[in-house]
Amino acid sequence: MSSSFDKVKSTLPYLGVGLGLRREVAAETFEAGHVIDFLEVIPEQYLCKGGDTRERLNKARASMPLVVHGLNLSLGGASPLDQEYITRLKTFVQFTDAPWFSDHVAFASLGDLYLHELLPVPFCKETIEHMSRRIKMVKEQIEKPFLIENTTYYMSMPGSDMTEPQFLTELLEEADCGLLLDVNNVYVNSVNHGFDPFLFLDQLPLERVVQIHMAGHLAKEDIVLDTHGAPIADPVFDLLRYVLSKATVCGITLERDQNLPPFDEILAELSAIKIITAEAKQAKTSLELEKRP
Ligand SMILES: [Fe+2]
Repeated sequence: MSSSFDKVKSTLPYLGVGLGLRREVAAETFEAGHVIDFLEVIPEQYLCKGGDTRERLNKARASMPLVVHGLNLSLGGASPLDQEYITRLKTFVQFTDAPWFSDHVAFASLGDLYLHELLPVPFCKETIEHMSRRIKMVKEQIEKPFLIENTTYYMSMPGSDMTEPQFLTELLEEADCGLLLDVNNVYVNSVNHGFDPFLFLDQLPLERVVQIHMAGHLAKEDIVLDTHGAPIADPVFDLLRYVLSKATVCGITLERDQNLPPFDEILAELSAIKIITAEAKQAKTSLELEKRP
């Protein structure tokens, strides 16, 4: 490792295996606090809201470590960054005491209009210059380690002349930030766009991965949809094993947004991730022991 982000990553705590906090299962989540290592909170669900919502955030903050995962920075958008949103985001990140915060490789707004969608960006040098400038501004203002997340896309944007791994690698270097690697997104894109997900991972700077997202998808006849509404599929677990054999990460989060199952099923998925994490750690330790003279 050689970037200045290496130093930043080395100061970050290991949080373990966590869950994206969702209103519908908040009570069960807090009850299961002893088996959930940390929570990921979405600032847009709390900013400018009081009552039950604020109470939920306070309870989460008192229960376990939090990380912040935003939707509205619109880093790839053409409109100027929303300074009011950034100011509120900074206050939120400080309040949660999150060791890092994240947003997506996407654009999410047109002017004052928030699209409530994460739309893909063209993979090209111009986007890298544009996004890295904006990421640096956000990092400077919020003063916490920042991660960008790879997203799903169902068509290549016009103007793309790089592969996604080339684009992500150069963007991460230029912006000098961390990667929130969504393993399910890699799998979904690999099926829809016909590439080898393992080869894709080999081309990423995995040393920059701080956090991993795990989620489920919906496989239709001619397309796979990133729904966060189904159990994690076996090939996604395989990709997680692969990443953990090559990289050290600080946290893994399960994202479940739709079609919520009985909470025991969510806990069983967290447990499966924990087992894979423990196996990866064990394998690394054995390898190191073997290398010793
Ligand atoms: Fe994700």
